[in-house]
Amino acid sequence: MDDCQWTVVGRVDEWPDEGGRLVAIGARRIGVYRHAGAWHALKDVCPHAGVSLARGPLKDGTVMCVGHGWLFSLASGEVVRGPKGFKVATYPVRTTPAGEVEIGL
Ligand code: FES
Repeated sequence: MDDCQWTVVGRVDEWPDEGGRLVAIGARRIGVYRHAGAWHALKDVCPHAGVSLARGPLKDGTVMCVGHGWLFSLASGEVVRGPKGFKVATYPVRTTPAGEVEIGL
């Protein structure tokens, strides 16, 4: 993680205590989530039919795709409810003392 290039994607106070926001870094669309006191970032597009994951409900460490209900682990990006073997990329997230949210690529 130390050799990541960190990019500021917003301020902590722009996120709800529980929820996600869609951000863009260049052509990449990334869902950034705050859930149960932790931060997660997942490639945004659902591998099933391309629906954005970022506005899906969060529960027990997962985000649900509002398309057809697949559940993705926020930690690993793996499908935990739905067909086995699907996964979305994850990215490291950190917050800074100045209150910024950064994604590592
Ligand atoms: S588009 Fe995500 S589950 Fe179908």
